[in-house]
Amino acid sequence: MTILGVSALYHDSAAAVIRDGQIVAAAQEERFSRKKHDPRVPVNAIYYCLEAAGIGAGDRVDAVAFYDKPITKFTRLLTTFCETVPSGFKTFALAVPAWVREKGWVAMSIERALQRARIRAEKFYFPEHHASHAGSAFFPSPFDEAAILTADGVGEWTCSSISVGEGNQMRMLAEQRFPHSLGLLYSAFTYFTGFKVNSGEYKLMGLAPYGTPRYVDDIKKHLVRIREDGSIWLNMDYFGYLDGLTMTNQRFERLFGGPRRRPESDITQREMDLAASIQAVTEEVMLKMARYARAVTGKRQLCMAGGVALNCVANGKILAEGLFDDLWIQPASGDAGGALGAALYVWHQVLRQERRIVPGRDSMAGAALGPGYSREQIKAFLDDNGLPYTEMRGAQWEAFLARTLAEERVVGLLQGRMEFGPRALGCRSILADARSKKMQSYLNLSTKFRESFRPFAPIVLREDVANYFEAVRESPYMLLVAGVKKERRARPRGDEHTLSLTEWVNRPRSDLPAITHVDYSARIQTVDRESNPRVHNLLTEFKRLTGCSVLVNTSFNVRSEPIVCTPEDAYCCFMRTGIDVLALEDFILQKKDQPEWFETENWQEEFGLD
Ligand SMILES: [Fe+2]
Repeated sequence: MTILGVSALYHDSAAAVIRDGQIVAAAQEERFSRKKHDPRVPVNAIYYCLEAAGIGAGDRVDAVAFYDKPITKFTRLLTTFCETVPSGFKTFALAVPAWVREKGWVAMSIERALQRARIRAEKFYFPEHHASHAGSAFFPSPFDEAAILTADGVGEWTCSSISVGEGNQMRMLAEQRFPHSLGLLYSAFTYFTGFKVNSGEYKLMGLAPYGTPRYVDDIKKHLVRIREDGSIWLNMDYFGYLDGLTMTNQRFERLFGGPRRRPESDITQREMDLAASIQAVTEEVMLKMARYARAVTGKRQLCMAGGVALNCVANGKILAEGLFDDLWIQPASGDAGGALGAALYVWHQVLRQERRIVPGRDSMAGAALGPGYSREQIKAFLDDNGLPYTEMRGAQWEAFLARTLAEERVVGLLQGRMEFGPRALGCRSILADARSKKMQSYLNLSTKFRESFRPFAPIVLREDVANYFEAVRESPYMLLVAGVKKERRARPRGDEHTLSLTEWVNRPRSDLPAITHVDYSARIQTVDRESNPRVHNLLTEFKRLTGCSVLVNTSFNVRSEPIVCTPEDAYCCFMRTGIDVLALEDFILQKKDQPEWFETENWQEEFGLD
């Protein structure tokens, strides 16, 4: 039985296909359309997933699972309008055309896309949004039973939930309903500090270590009441998202000393302190929710999903608290993962099909669920375009790349199937030497084209993680933040607050300067031989050569561009940036050997780099 899962029409649309409960493929539309956070019906991702499952013209899918209930969402819109009229009229009037045009007809749009490929859909299901998130967290997890925590902006009405999962069934025990949303509270601060809602949350989290949480009392006094069970009540007098066109209003501005930061303008101490404050509040709520989940479910394992579960600092705190024996977080925790969760929900929860659990292993295949490219495909691409390369295998490949990295040169790596979720995990990654003092600013300025206050993330051999980082045993999906070991840290000089953000972030803080944040934390990815043998071998060779089993791992893209998907995407990114060596599976390309690159005039504009 084949089930197609789809998430679409808000942000990060995606498709996933499961067959007899096994995950066959999953991918975000943005990787194919090359439009970041593409929200449209994911036609390209659907076609890719079905092709990966061997479904073509004349075939059928047994079920299509859409990741939310559009009609219930529309009811929320209507109810909110009725409760806020007349002030909410503008919001309502702006939202309605999208509903009339497409949101109300999403099943028909998906069906039409399938019909164009002459594929028949037998039946449509619409699990609730948070059931899809919960399904994406629990069903692929390595746990037979677990507490399940979901948190995001809002689904239909639910903004966060606690469920219990046992075998092939989940049961919701508590929920937080709109408009009292932890995700929207965090997004309000994302907006107010001048970042983009639904994508800038990461930046806000990265900014937090520079600030002091001096606004926590104000936030808790005026904006949010936090109860012991982790439920919250928001004072809507300060927010604009119910009846206005912005996340925050003038009262919010008065509370925090003036209007929001204009996007791209200088970040001041106020934004850093706001970031630190909302991060502290978020962690308090998440910890209380986790404690309550532990108490009401009685389970010793926790699964998490929803956009807020991408807050890896809060996740690290939950782990460090020791409330649960183990924690598993869906790597595609945002709405993209809802496509997979919806499909799994239909298979297990609705159709009551068994889960087959391999102890200690999840069923996400290291999130490598997207397109991969054969030797023949890559060779044809290179030969057809006359691009010089050397083909290397096994130990020769590892030795060459390890040496390249140790010489402080930057490697772009495309191998295996593309990752599902926002992080590059070694299949579409840029790798560099984490020990290098120049690497952080070099990568930011010449490769990612960003002036960033965020350091890069490390990838480390799983067996060596305890040599470098505290408290983390395993983090295969880069969803946990933990401290760099104390003995590796440099002493602070005490003048940090007089520096600019860039100067501060570029000052070495440990013997792994490229990956150590200003509070000595790092967003860790552990890699093991089973889930990613090629990267594991490369790290092992790098360790043999240098004694260090950590590398920088950053996503293979430039700012504002989706992560690369095809060898062609990778080649373009390689030629446009300071990447020195490109590895397309076994094919090694050196920048110095490549023909002259003629750039399309407006590529920087296309990616918002002007
Ligand atoms: Fe969501």
